[in-house]
Amino acid sequence: MKIVIGADHGGFTYKQKILEHLKKQGYMVEDFGTFSDTSCDYPVIAKKVAHAVSSGEFDRGILICGTGIGMSIAANKIKGIRAALCGDTFSAHATREHNDSNVLCLGARVIGDELAIDIVDIWLKTEFSAQERHQRRIDMLE
Ligand code: RB5
Repeated sequence: MKIVIGADHGGFTYKQKILEHLKKQGYMVEDFGTFSDTSCDYPVIAKKVAHAVSSGEFDRGILICGTGIGMSIAANKIKGIRAALCGDTFSAHATREHNDSNVLCLGARVIGDELAIDIVDIWLKTEFSAQERHQRRIDMLE
């Protein structure tokens, strides 16, 4: 599975921890920035990551900002993107099974990095249920 990750300044430190964790787990992951804690604009990073997923270049994207909200709003504007802001492991599991979410958004100022890593692990490992009712609803989104 090819993963692309991005964050703004609010999520920079958090991104580095998740990146390190993913690499240790053996995932192929590319970092689209930001590369310092200097203030930057989250829509720029969100759009780059979202386009890389919607084009099929990457299978999944992970986006981090202070709340995760700006990143999710921006990513969901890109066709084919189903970005889910998760602050708990139940939602991470459910959004993969029900929504086949392809981008995970996290709020670095909202939840701790250990919980974020659990959320990432569950979200990456959970398959879409492929049940007819869930696929039908996903089709309605497009
Ligand atoms: C940056 O201060 C902050 O607004 C951003 O990280 C994010 O929370 C936006 O939704």
